[in-house]
Amino acid sequence: MTAKKDLLTIWDFSAEEVRSILNRSIALKSGVDRMKCPLIGKSIGLFFEKPSTRTRVSFEVGVYQLGAQPIVLSPRELQLGRGETIADTARTLSRYLHGMVMRVFQHDTVAEFARHASIPVINGLSNAHHPCQAFADVMTVQERKGRTDGIRFAFIGDGNNVAHSLIEIAARTGLDFVIAAPEGYDPDPAVVQRARSAGGRIAIVRDAREAAAGADVLYTDVWVSMGQEAEADEKVEKFRSFQINDDLLGRAKPDAMVLHCLPAVRGNEITDAVMDGPHSAIFAQAENRLHTEKALLEYLVS
Ligand code: CP
Ligand code: NVA
Repeated sequence: MTAKKDLLTIWDFSAEEVRSILNRSIALKSGVDRMKCPLIGKSIGLFFEKPSTRTRVSFEVGVYQLGAQPIVLSPRELQLGRGETIADTARTLSRYLHGMVMRVFQHDTVAEFARHASIPVINGLSNAHHPCQAFADVMTVQERKGRTDGIRFAFIGDGNNVAHSLIEIAARTGLDFVIAAPEGYDPDPAVVQRARSAGGRIAIVRDAREAAAGADVLYTDVWVSMGQEAEADEKVEKFRSFQINDDLLGRAKPDAMVLHCLPAVRGNEITDAVMDGPHSAIFAQAENRLHTEKALLEYLVS
């Protein structure tokens, strides 16, 4: 029996594995193997400590389309909510399920579960990483630009979970990554350092206009992530000049594309005009969550 494989961060996948997931996602989107059910007879747990629209529904639909049974779980419904340990929950659920997707507040929770589970564990977002999102984002770049290598990818905003996974996948796929963030909101230096050591071109600047200049992709995420509500007023004030608007878009390449992982706070990190305008690939990006989740499940679970 081969050892199970998890997706906790992008580093769990080599550059070749990332490429192969992206190619398979594009193939699945084209409709090949539509009627095949490679996961027939299997059951996949979908555990959410926080709200979710895209991750929850794309995984649930993806599991169904692959022929397996999705089981959506929340801490309240499990004995976890009454103090059963993560380790005992992982040991138990491994006896029923064939894979587990987890959205958690603390990254340690999904890491601890994965350590004690004998089934593949997929991080569906933690405070520190959002690897599934990064796969869909880079798939969208590959589809629209025909390549990833050398693409100038400008992330405008918080050095958060989404930024971390993008920095890591940039190193795996050759994106030329720049983040513009206010002082105090840079990505984790350890994430940046590791990506640079793996050959990633990662730059950090303070001026959104500098990051946007000549960009192929402009990307943003909310200024206030789930769990940061207490800091909301302070963050919104500090991020005011980190909005993707027509002025910023005008500094990017004429054929630049705009991405946002969603949900968006329209009028904060992105204007309506840009979000609904011709450069936006945001809803195609959201759709791609389905195709990449299916490719990931097929690779990890079958
Ligand atoms: N982008 C993303 O993960 O969306 P949800 O929070 O709706 O799952
Ligand atoms: N950074 C955001 C991403 C939501 C998909 C959050 O963690 O809330």
